[in-house]
Amino acid sequence: MFFKTKNLDNKKVFDVVSDDFRYAKALNSFGIDFYKSYDHTIEEICSKKGLSSDSIHGYRIAMDESFDLDLTTLKSSPINLLIEYLKHNHSYFIKNKLPYIQSLISNLSLDDKNYNFFQDLKFIFPHFYEDFVDHILEEEKYIFTYIQKLYHLDGNPKNHAKLFFEMKKISLKEIAKEHLDEDSEMEGIRGLTKNYSLDNIENLHLKVIFQELKAFDMELDIHSKIENDILFPSAIDLQDKVSDQIRNISFLN
Ligand SMILES: [Fe+2]
Ligand SMILES: [Fe+2]
Repeated sequence: MFFKTKNLDNKKVFDVVSDDFRYAKALNSFGIDFYKSYDHTIEEICSKKGLSSDSIHGYRIAMDESFDLDLTTLKSSPINLLIEYLKHNHSYFIKNKLPYIQSLISNLSLDDKNYNFFQDLKFIFPHFYEDFVDHILEEEKYIFTYIQKLYHLDGNPKNHAKLFFEMKKISLKEIAKEHLDEDSEMEGIRGLTKNYSLDNIENLHLKVIFQELKAFDMELDIHSKIENDILFPSAIDLQDKVSDQIRNISFLN
């Protein structure tokens, strides 16, 4: 193989995940719960599962390949592509990232009194998850759909009447302001975990959860920045442009 990870095969899962928490996700993708296999080596669990360890290392390496587009590229992209990109992010959060974090949290059993906040995290996370899904559904169902209609009407304002009335009902400026002012949905979790601080956290399972939450928080931050700084300003410009076109048609008629 093109990567040198052979030396990891004889290491215990506990040590591999302690050094690099993302190995927990790589193992999970092959149906292996790292927290049930601490004392086994990578080689042992692979032979038990009939897997090649290259698959696990390959998956782990692929996780570093980013398909994210930089802000400059996104800024110069047509708005319909920007929306497809944001929808792709949404589906990755909902189908991949969050179910994984949820399963890590629900499978953790801790009696340790040092971690009494953990019951709160177990309680709060499903609520966060639900609110987050609602946020995404609202964006896709109403806001993105409306912006896409504007995009298709731009320069071709036939059959504009229906959208004209929709435009009266929707204030993109207000939606943009609300979105910008909204506290991150992660606020409560940040507080509970003291900003994902690993100080005083001994338990490896909990460390992985904190690191996953932190990584997700950062991804979500970038996602919201794209919506606030690129999507909404471009959509407002587009709306102004289309409403001018509609006004001109009405005037000419
Ligand atoms: Fe979004
Ligand atoms: Fe959003």
